Amino acid sequence: MSTATESLTIRRPDDWHLHFRDGDTMRAVVPHTARQFARAIVMPNLAPPVTTSALADDYRERILAAVPEGLDFTPLMTAYLTDETDADDLAAGFADGVLTAAKLYPAGATTNSAHGVTDVANISGVLERMAQVGMPLCIHGEVTHADIDIFDREAVFIDRVLAPLVERLPELKVIFEHITTKQAVQFVDASGPRIGATITPQHLHINRNAILVGGIRPHMFCLPVAKREEHRLALRKAATSGSAKYFLGTDSAPHHRHAKESDCGCAGIFNAPFALESYATVFDQENALDNFEGFASLNGPAFYGLPVNEARITLEKAPVEVPSEVEGGDAAIVPFHTGETLKWRLAS
Ligand code: DOR
Ligand code: ZN
Repeated sequence: MSTATESLTIRRPDDWHLHFRDGDTMRAVVPHTARQFARAIVMPNLAPPVTTSALADDYRERILAAVPEGLDFTPLMTAYLTDETDADDLAAGFADGVLTAAKLYPAGATTNSAHGVTDVANISGVLERMAQVGMPLCIHGEVTHADIDIFDREAVFIDRVLAPLVERLPELKVIFEHITTKQAVQFVDASGPRIGATITPQHLHINRNAILVGGIRPHMFCLPVAKREEHRLALRKAATSGSAKYFLGTDSAPHHRHAKESDCGCAGIFNAPFALESYATVFDQENALDNFEGFASLNGPAFYGLPVNEARITLEKAPVEVPSEVEGGDAAIVPFHTGETLKWRLAS
């Protein structure tokens, strides 16, 4: 890595958690990610969800067809776990290289999670098989019980589900995704090397006030929902610390403007257009640009056991204005940081 005065050259990064959707929306959003990242772990929560190796293989082809010519981008596919997941299909997809990981959505946790797992006990055989073959498990870590406050759902998930799971299957590689709390940071820090975590740009930039102060801001709403300031500070410390357990995962989740600005607005923040710019701004603010390459380009591949990218990118300290909306297929999508000027930009 070289840090000249106002620029930063690093290995090309990857996005270890991302939503592309399908159809016209997918075709509109894929170029934003392919511009910045060499690979991305693609979430399977389509409607209907990507539950098998065959469905993942088809989806992969559709994504590849949407990558603009001249850009080198590889989608890394995941299978959506259900109570009925077939462990043989999963293991075969992993062995063939069709699947990179499997995704656990607790049923009802978020967008298109209705088919998710109703009780982790129902997939214990599948998880044992994954541990055996070394297939990583991506987890949306929130309990979904109506009696648990939405701001406590991640912390309660750690106590009730994640800690017992990790204790029972210490061989299983687990990615605790889009963490939002100091409890999650404490858990990951205290765990062994098979537990990693992704952190989104929004959870580094905003706390829950951004959603509710001065009016309700649907474009700041995602799940897990942003928490209090003390949690944001713990996440910034973890991300910029240099610890190999934390890596970049945007959770960019496109929803059209009208689906967000609604009586019942969808959860999800579309940060793909300026994701690297957003993260680099945080690392600069924390005087931690030296640790940016680890977070963005090295820790993820090391955790997944994949090679690092050979290409390099350069970020420059120069202003970039975020537009009010971007093209999203059927309708426009409002990007994260809309109306702001970010201080870093990706050199072409
Ligand atoms: O805010 C979110 N949006 N969180 C998720 O877990 C899913 C995502 C989506 O698919 O829209
Ligand atoms: Zn997600």
